[in-house]
Amino acid sequence: MLKTKIKNLSLPNCLFNASGPLCSTEEDLLKLNESNSSIVLSKSSTISNRDGNPKPRYYDHDLGSINSMGLPNLGYQFYLSMSDKITKPYFISVSGMTLLDTITIVQECLKNNDIQGIEINLSCPNIIGKGQLAYDLPKMDEYLSNIFPYINNNKNGKLIGLKLVPYFDIHIYSEVCDILQKYPIDFITCVNSLGNGLIIDYQKEETVIKPKNGMGGIGGKYIKPIALSNVRNFYLEFQKRNLDIDIIGCGGIETGVDVFEHILAGATMVQVGTQLYREGPEVFVRLQNELISILKEKNYNSLSEFRGKLKTIS
Ligand code: DHB
Repeated sequence: MLKTKIKNLSLPNCLFNASGPLCSTEEDLLKLNESNSSIVLSKSSTISNRDGNPKPRYYDHDLGSINSMGLPNLGYQFYLSMSDKITKPYFISVSGMTLLDTITIVQECLKNNDIQGIEINLSCPNIIGKGQLAYDLPKMDEYLSNIFPYINNNKNGKLIGLKLVPYFDIHIYSEVCDILQKYPIDFITCVNSLGNGLIIDYQKEETVIKPKNGMGGIGGKYIKPIALSNVRNFYLEFQKRNLDIDIIGCGGIETGVDVFEHILAGATMVQVGTQLYREGPEVFVRLQNELISILKEKNYNSLSEFRGKLKTIS
């Protein structure tokens, strides 16, 4: 009932982990492999392992999370080596500290036959002294124009996607699409956390995380409306241009209703971040069951019957 596809890759359901919580270590990745997640996606990887930013660097409450992890990860070679142990489709998130690093990691991923996808992260908000690339469209275009020559004839059947920032201005979607359509992109993930938010502990009169004066990426309920509008606006723009790029929704997925809304807005799959951190990989069974109940209530037999079919008020 929940079967879906990203391009030609068939998947048993539309749920998987966001690159973020619980996908950094061998134990994390093996637990995801055993879970109901239909893909295993690694933590964003860099050339060398990194400890990340000083702690506390993650905080969560009812409305959502704030994090400034600073890319703690075990280095891309570790994530490549895990491909032997992961039996599900395995995607690597790539977040080189420089263009050259990203090119190197992407090239190494392309050579590995046990990796099905690469998510190039253009949107990390937490590296001290660096901005989010996907907000600077000329720079993003230049970055992609330097990476894709290495991908074009070597895709090896792999899916190539971009993790994007949340956009706000309605005119920007068309400008981003002008760039996307120059490259053989299979999917985009919308959205990364809302960068540089601030959550305050009013009793202590203090920030809740330490790095960057307390600023960090916001996830959870706070960002669902923004995530949905990004999914929707890219979906409409891709339809208008006849662009065959799948959209992976990410942002505020806590229940089956949230998954349903992302699919209705045009997503083919969704990723779960903040709620995965709270609940662990068990979250995928709950979300699947809740989504199946909604489909049954509505007499839908498949996701394609309602995907993208959001109505507006006439
Ligand atoms: C981190 C945060 C992100 O939003 C991201 O895309 C990659 C890394 C981090 O701080 O570790």
